[in-house]
Amino acid sequence: MVDLFEEKAKDWDKDDFKTRLSRAIGTTMLERLDFTADMDIMDFGAGTGLIAGHLAPKVAHIAAVDISQAMLDRLAAKPELRGKVDTLCQDIMDHPLPQKFDVIVSAMAMHHVEDTDKLIESFAAHLKAGGRVALADLDHEDGTFHPAGTTGVFHAGFKRDLLQRLLNKHGISDVQFVTAYAVERGDKVFPIFLVLGQKSAPAA
Ligand SMILES: C[S@@+](CC[C@H](N)C(=O)[O-])C[C@H]1O[C@@H](n2cnc3c(N)ncnc32)[C@H](O)[C@@H]1O
Repeated sequence: MVDLFEEKAKDWDKDDFKTRLSRAIGTTMLERLDFTADMDIMDFGAGTGLIAGHLAPKVAHIAAVDISQAMLDRLAAKPELRGKVDTLCQDIMDHPLPQKFDVIVSAMAMHHVEDTDKLIESFAAHLKAGGRVALADLDHEDGTFHPAGTTGVFHAGFKRDLLQRLLNKHGISDVQFVTAYAVERGDKVFPIFLVLGQKSAPAA
């Protein structure tokens, strides 16, 4: 499989915009969700670990899942994440992980996955009963957030009501959206949402 992030990985963490955005998303995740020291987390589309870096001190373990080996190599080279974060280069929709998680987080990765229904189904399948999601991405936009012709971008953001329906369809309820950040470019504003939800526990 072609690694679409191979070149981008080299300078990812040097880009002020990306570090500012991930700091805003990571901070909002920490404000909105009670992470505890016994939790096993999956970071979907973890990239170089900018989000994992915010959460790692608060939890037991993070499985950093991505299909870009180049991005994960950058993450694995960070000494502060060693022992806390493991990297898994695989497509979990086709090759699910054997373990289930207390929380699945994701930042700016869902718009790179064509089949959102299948992705949310996979998230639900990887959650423990009562487990939570905290997923950040672009609100629906006019298609100008990424430069024209960027490969691997399947969605011009997401409509919140559509995402809510997909989460509910796959057994994730208590769905709440907050705006984690607003990217300003000229006269345009691109809001970034964080959606939280919880997988229903089976009736006793
Ligand atoms: C815009 S980057 C965000 C990286 C990181 N979450 C951050 O905030 O810095 C999107 C990431 O999603 C990953 N990605 C794309 N499709 C994926 C898939 N099907 N499974 C896992 N990761 C995927 C890309 O390889 C890339 O590392």
